[in-house]
Amino acid sequence: MQNFVITGGKRLSGEIELQGCKNSTLPIMAAAILVNGKCSLESCPNLTDVYSAARILNHLGCKCSIVGNRGEIDASAITGSEIPERLMREMRSSIMFMGAILGRMGECTFSIPGGCELGPRPIDMHLAALAKMGAEIQDTGGRICCRMPKGRSHGARLSLSFPSVGATENIILCAVLAEGETVINNAAREPEICDMCRFLRSCGAKIKGDGESCIMVEGVEKLHGCEYRIMPDRIAGATYLSMTAAAGGELILKNACIAEMEPFVSILEQTGCFICAADNRIYLRRGGRLKAVKNRIRTMPHPGFPTDAQAVLMAALATAEGTSVFEENIFDCRYRHTDALIKMGADIQVMGKAAVIRGVRRLHGADIEATDLRGGAAMAVAALAAEGTTRIGSISHIDRGYEKFEDVITSLGGSIRRE
Ligand code: UD1
Repeated sequence: MQNFVITGGKRLSGEIELQGCKNSTLPIMAAAILVNGKCSLESCPNLTDVYSAARILNHLGCKCSIVGNRGEIDASAITGSEIPERLMREMRSSIMFMGAILGRMGECTFSIPGGCELGPRPIDMHLAALAKMGAEIQDTGGRICCRMPKGRSHGARLSLSFPSVGATENIILCAVLAEGETVINNAAREPEICDMCRFLRSCGAKIKGDGESCIMVEGVEKLHGCEYRIMPDRIAGATYLSMTAAAGGELILKNACIAEMEPFVSILEQTGCFICAADNRIYLRRGGRLKAVKNRIRTMPHPGFPTDAQAVLMAALATAEGTSVFEENIFDCRYRHTDALIKMGADIQVMGKAAVIRGVRRLHGADIEATDLRGGAAMAVAALAAEGTTRIGSISHIDRGYEKFEDVITSLGGSIRRE
C-alpha cells in the first residue's frame, strides 16, 4: 500500500493542463462496445479506473489499448457478454457496461458489487428501465442475468424518480441500437452524459436533448467508428482550484471547461478568491485568508453544486474565516473524509445531511487514511494548507481519478512524494 507524504505551508503557483474526464471516459469506453469498428479516443486519462474498464473490454473480446493519452477500442469481434465478479469488484462504475453489452449482444451477466465507500448504491432504476425496454432479468444470488428474448431491445417511454447519472447513461446505451424510440423523462443533465452522447453521435447514433431533462434516442441499425476527444475533467479542475485556494498562491487551469465548472466556480468565488475565466482557461489568485461561504452549499444534480466537489471545497473552507455549512443531498454516506480533517485540527460537525465547518486559523499534519476518491483528494488539499507533514494512506483511492497527482502538485511548487 502506498502513501502520499505532503509537507504543507507552501504557496502554490503555476499553470496546469486539465486531464481528460474520468466520468465520461468510462461510459464512452462502454459505448464503444456498440460500435462495429475502431474508435480512437484522445485525451484519455491514465487512471486505474480506466485500466479496469480496458480489462473489461479485453475480457469481452474487444481490442482495447491505451498508449499515452490515446485509447483505441475495436469491438468488431466482441464475443463475450459476461463480466466476471473480480472485474466488477475492481470498479463500481462497471455497472454502466450493462446497457452497452445488452444493446450489442442481447444479453449480459454481471454481479452487483455491493455497497461502496459512499454508502449503498442500488441499481433499481437501471434494472426497471431495462425491463421496460424488453429485458428479462434474473437474480441468482448476486449474479444478475439480463436477456432480450427477441435479441434486440425496444424503445420505451421512461420517467426516472431521480435524475440518476448512471441510469441515464445505461438507458441511452441500451437505446442506441434498439428498435424504435426511447424517451427518458427526468434524465440527469450532467456534462459527462453530453460527452458520451456527442461520442455516440460521432458514431452515427440519433440522440437529442442531452443536457436537458428529456432525452430522446431513436434506435439505429449500426454504428461506425470515429475519432473523439474526451472533455476536460471538471472535478479534477475543482480539486486543483480548491488546493490553490487552501494553500494560497495563483493557478492557471488550461483546457478548462468553463461553462461546466460554473456551478462550482460561482461558490468558490464567494470565498474571496479572485477568479477570472476566458478562452478555456480559469485563473485563480488567493491573497488574504479565505472567507466562509455564507449560504448553505447544497449538493444537487447538475447544474447544482456537484457532490463530487463537496469534499475538496470543505477541505479549503476548514481554514476560512467564519462558518460554512454543506448539505449533502446525493449520497447518504459522503462525509467520511471529515474524521481525517478533524484529526488535522479542523472544526467540523456532521449532523445527518448537514456538515458545519467552523474555520480554524491553522491545520496541522497527521497520519490519515484516504476513505474514497474525492475524500482522499480533500485530505491532500488540507495537507497542502496545513503546518507540518501529513501522511495519507490508501492512496489507491486517489489514483482512481487523478492523473499524475503528485507530478501536478510538484509542478505547482507543492511538497509531495509517493512512498
Ligand atoms: C455518478 C458519478 C459519481 C457522482 C454521481 C452523482 C460516474 C462514474 N460516477 O455516479 O462520481 O458522484 O454520478 O453526480 O460517473 N440511485 C438509486 N437507484 C438507482 C441509481 C441511483 O437509488 O438505480 C441513487 C444513488 O444511490 C444515489 C443517487 O441516486 O443516492 C445518485 O446516484 P447516480 O446519479 O446514479 O450516481 P452514479 O451514476 O452512481
